[in-house]
Amino acid sequence: MSTATLTLNGQDYQLPVRVGSEGEVGIDIAKLRVQSGAITFDPGYGNTGSCESAITYIDGEQGILRYRGYAIEALAGKSSFVEVSYLLVYGHLPSRDELDRFIHRLTYHSMLHEDMKKFYEGFPPSAHPMSVLSTMVASLSAYYPDSVKEEDIERNIIRLLAKLKTIAAVSYKKSIGQPSIYPRNDLDFVGDFLHMMFAVPTEPYEVSEIIREALDLLLILHVDHEQNCSTSTVRMVGSSGADLFSTISAGISALSGPLHGGANQAVIQMLDNIRSDGGNYAKYIDKAKDKSDPFRLMGFGHRVYKNFDPRAQLIREAADRVLARLGHNDPLLDIAKHLERIALEDDYFVERRLYPNLDFYSGIVYRAMGIPTNMYTVMFALGRLPGWIAQWTEMRDQKSRIHRPRQIYTGPTDRPYVPIDER
Ligand code: CMC
Repeated sequence: MSTATLTLNGQDYQLPVRVGSEGEVGIDIAKLRVQSGAITFDPGYGNTGSCESAITYIDGEQGILRYRGYAIEALAGKSSFVEVSYLLVYGHLPSRDELDRFIHRLTYHSMLHEDMKKFYEGFPPSAHPMSVLSTMVASLSAYYPDSVKEEDIERNIIRLLAKLKTIAAVSYKKSIGQPSIYPRNDLDFVGDFLHMMFAVPTEPYEVSEIIREALDLLLILHVDHEQNCSTSTVRMVGSSGADLFSTISAGISALSGPLHGGANQAVIQMLDNIRSDGGNYAKYIDKAKDKSDPFRLMGFGHRVYKNFDPRAQLIREAADRVLARLGHNDPLLDIAKHLERIALEDDYFVERRLYPNLDFYSGIVYRAMGIPTNMYTVMFALGRLPGWIAQWTEMRDQKSRIHRPRQIYTGPTDRPYVPIDER
C-alpha cells in the first residue's frame, strides 16, 4: 500500500492510500487525529470518502454510472425495475427462479395493515405526499418490530420494498379525496402502482403499456447514486443502530429538499413560471447568474457530473418518445429544450460545468403520465428505495462505527457566567 505524507507544524505523518477497483484514490485519515491532534475540514463533504462501497460507481467526468458493475444504459434498456432492485439488494442479477420468487414476495407483502388507514385520516388534505410518505414509513416500525435475526431483517426489507408503492398511492388518493385502491396481485409491480394511483371503484382502469414502460425506466434511473445527501443520511442514521424503517424515513426526508429530489417538482414549477411570464428564458438565465438573487436554474448542475448526467440523456430521449407515443404536445418540453440550449451556450454555465441533471426532464415525463406535480419526489423515493436498502445493508455488514463528524469550533472561548439580573 502506498502512503501520502502530511507535514504539519514541521512533523511528517504517513497516511495510508486506498485505491478502489476503478482506480479512485483516497487518503486514509482514520488515525490522523489520534496521531497529530488535527482533523480535516471539508464543508459539504465534497472531498470526503465516508465509506468503501461495492454498489454504485460514478465517473462524473466521463458521465459513467454503473450499478454493481452494470452500465445504466444496459440496465435501462434490458432489465425491469424489480430486476434492478434485486441486483442492488442482493448484489447479483437474479436467475429466472430467483426473480420469480422475489416478484412473488413483493406481490404478497404489498397490502398495508388496515389500522394504518387511521393515520392517513389524521393528515390535512394539504399535506405534502413526501411528509406523509416519511411518516408512514417510520410508522412501519411500530407494526414490524426490529429484530437482530437476519431472516426477520430480510423480511422487513421485502415488506418495505413491497409496501412503499401502496403507501405512496394511498397518500395520493387521500390528497385528492378519492377512496384508496387495494393492491392487485395479478398486476406487475409498476402496473399495480399505476392501478392504485389512477383506478376508481366506479369503472375499470386499464394500465397503459406506454406509461408502465416509461415509469419502469424512470425508476431504474433513480435506483442509486452513491453517497448523495439522502443515502449519506441513511448511512448516518443507520450507523446509530436505528431500525430499517426509521432509517429509510430519514432518507425520504433528506430527499424531499429542493436541492436534492425535490428539484423535479421545482423544475416544473419553474418552467410553468417561465411560461406564464411570457416565455422569457433570458430573464431566468440572468436571474440564475445574478449572485444577489437566490434563484437557481432548477434541474441544472450536479456535485459529481461535470460533463453530462447519463440519466438526464436517457430521460430526455424517454420524454420525446413518451410524448410522441401518447400524442401529447407539452409546451413545457419546448421551454425546457430552449432553456437547455441557451444555458449550454452561456459562459456562466459552461465555466461552472453546469449541465441538465436527471430532474430537468423527469417532471415532463411524469406530467405526460398524469402524475401530479407534488408526487414527483415520491416517484424519486420509490426508485431510490432499493439503493438506500443496499447501502444500509452494506453499512451493517461493514460493522460501521457510529457516524460522528468533528468540527472546527469558532464560537466564544470560555467566558464568565453572568446572573440574569446583572445582564
Ligand atoms: N443555477 C445557477 N447557478 C448554479 C446552479 C444552478 N442550478 N448550480 C450551481 N450553480 C453555481 C453556484 O452558484 C456556484 O457558483 P460560484 O462558483 O460562482 O459560487 C457554482 O455553480 C458551483 O455550485 P455549488 O452550489 O457549489 O455546487 P454543489 O455541488 O454544491 O451543488 C447542486 C450541486 C445540484 C445542489 C446545485 O448545482 C444546484 O443547486 N442545482 C439546482 C438544484 C437541482 O437541480 N438539484 C438536483 C440535483 S440532481 C438529483 C439529485 O441527485 O438530487
